[in-house]
Amino acid sequence: MPEAIEKVAMQVSVNGKRYSLRVEPRTLLVEMLREQLDLTGTHVGCDTTYCGACTVLLNGAAVKSCTVLAVQADGGEITTVEGLEQNGQLHPIQKAFGDAYGLQCGYCTPGIMLSALQLLSKNRQPSEREMRKAIAGNTCRCTGYQNIFKAIQLAARNMRGA
Ligand code: FES
Ligand code: FES
Repeated sequence: MPEAIEKVAMQVSVNGKRYSLRVEPRTLLVEMLREQLDLTGTHVGCDTTYCGACTVLLNGAAVKSCTVLAVQADGGEITTVEGLEQNGQLHPIQKAFGDAYGLQCGYCTPGIMLSALQLLSKNRQPSEREMRKAIAGNTCRCTGYQNIFKAIQLAARNMRGA
């Protein structure tokens, strides 16, 4: 019978809520989010760190959660797509993706919105080049990206109150 892998204790804040968890050292951050915390808005679209569907913010930085061990987030703050909406109000980025038709199937959308949030939290007037760089790690197989850029620009306008 195979030996059980010893779990380690960790603490993490996800979308403003603190969790004390026990995880196997090999558990990926995306597995912890989806399987232990039931936050299934963070998607898995590949097994090669390519697609970016799993993007979340870890301490404000966009990371591919399929490529980070859960224990590497110990003591950290994570934002997933479920944390964007506040008090029943869509975040301006979520609203803009709807208004500007920035999604089709939506599989890539949570990850792209988190990459956009990282950009817009530092830069409310991004150029097209800056937007392209911000979502360079996110693959969309449906939209052709043009409406994604329109959505990020619209969110930026709304976030600076223009
Ligand atoms: S699931 Fe594709 S990069 Fe993480
Ligand atoms: S909207 Fe379908 S993959 Fe981006």
